[in-house]
Amino acid sequence: MPTTSTNPHLPFGENKNAEWYGKDILSVKQFTRTDLEYVFGVAHEMRGMVERVGTFDLLKGKILANLFYEPSTRTSSSFTAAMERLGGSVIPISEVKYSSVSKGESLPDTIRTLECYADVIVLRHPETGSAAIAAKAAKKPIINAGDGVGEHPTQALLDAFTIMEELGRLDNLTVTMLGDLKYGRTVHSLARLLSQFSNIKLNYVSPDILKMPKEVMEEVGAKGVPQAEFSSLEKVLPETDILYVTRVQKERFEDPADYETVKGAYVIDPEIMKAAKQEMAVMHPLPRVGEISTDFDDDPRAAYFRQMEYGLYVRMALLAMVLGKA
Ligand code: ASP
Ligand code: CP
Repeated sequence: MPTTSTNPHLPFGENKNAEWYGKDILSVKQFTRTDLEYVFGVAHEMRGMVERVGTFDLLKGKILANLFYEPSTRTSSSFTAAMERLGGSVIPISEVKYSSVSKGESLPDTIRTLECYADVIVLRHPETGSAAIAAKAAKKPIINAGDGVGEHPTQALLDAFTIMEELGRLDNLTVTMLGDLKYGRTVHSLARLLSQFSNIKLNYVSPDILKMPKEVMEEVGAKGVPQAEFSSLEKVLPETDILYVTRVQKERFEDPADYETVKGAYVIDPEIMKAAKQEMAVMHPLPRVGEISTDFDDDPRAAYFRQMEYGLYVRMALLAMVLGKA
């Protein structure tokens, strides 16, 4: 890994002048194209190091607090793996009911507590804006691992990395987002992130009650990106370069009866995919609950499992950056 140090006797010392040192990662809006290229460069080096040596000591002695108020498999375990592969260690709090949160401790106080023991805090929380509240209370970097229906910035960064790996470009793309665009925070982040690239077209396919929020469409529209809404996939599938499938977010519905009307609205299977290009990719942040048939998993266009793996390298890069080691 390229490391710079303010102390010549400590080759792995922190570079406090590094651009991302000590910063929070709250929204994709913080990332320019140049930043993305930088993240991807570091992620590539991380991948090479993992393939060559598995684990190395870049973040030796550093501690990550992994604070999850909502369920997670990928984000939580990939941040843990990222920290451990970099030689650091992790305080895992994935069952907040066993923490003092269940005694009524506030988010700011929980954050103030954890930063006494950790160097960086990864937070997933059901309320939009919670990561920003945490960042206000904290002196150490906060990484937003999903704040309600708000954003999931590290997912969007790994999604963009996946698109680069799969198709070799982030310009000149038709991206079709399918499913729950209302409550799906991953598509809110990804649409925003992609809006800074050239010649991007975004298609939104969803049931009427799960449309992309106006606020996101306005932000993306202000960047000059054409967006179109559909209720069926048929018309847009043939022109699609990236099909980004999402789960209907059952846990976020106010009325469970509404969920029943839209669950299973779209299912991607080999038959439907006959109408798609050969050179395209199907992505999904996962977990899937029936939106992509397992019969499609062996198709070379099924990129969702590779996408998960890329998350490790991108999160290793982000941890190294905010801790001044990249
Ligand atoms: N895992 C992603 C998230 O936490 C997507 C999902 O749960 O459907 O936003
Ligand atoms: N993609 C994603 O955030 O997965 P988890 O909910 O399992 O973390």
